Amino acid sequence: MAWKRVCSTSEVARGRLAPFVVDGITVIVANFDDDGFSVFPPACPHMEEPLDQSGMCAGTVLTCSKHLYQWDMRTGEAAGPAENDRVLLRYESKVEGGEVLAHIESELVYEYEDDEDDDFEW
Ligand code: FES
Repeated sequence: MAWKRVCSTSEVARGRLAPFVVDGITVIVANFDDDGFSVFPPACPHMEEPLDQSGMCAGTVLTCSKHLYQWDMRTGEAAGPAENDRVLLRYESKVEGGEVLAHIESELVYEYEDDEDDDFEW
């Protein structure tokens, strides 16, 4: 097992998210509820938008402000009314002794389609 310390729980306020670098891998930590933390890659699953700038937490739902796609941070599944079949990749995480730990063996990355920008329409 490769459990790594990501940050202290006090470093991410409730309802906020923040980027951290763990062994050269950038991750986002979201604090979505009391003792509820999620750790996931820094790019939006839709179009690689940096979630430390576009991501918003509301309860357990992550919203990317670029196109308003949403995900349930507890499961990674799409949520909300926007059409979205992408899954939010997540690192297994836990809280121990006031620290957020994540199981990071390798970097989680999305595969984006090259022509996706051309196909997206409101
Ligand atoms: S880039 Fe995030 S929802 Fe489109």
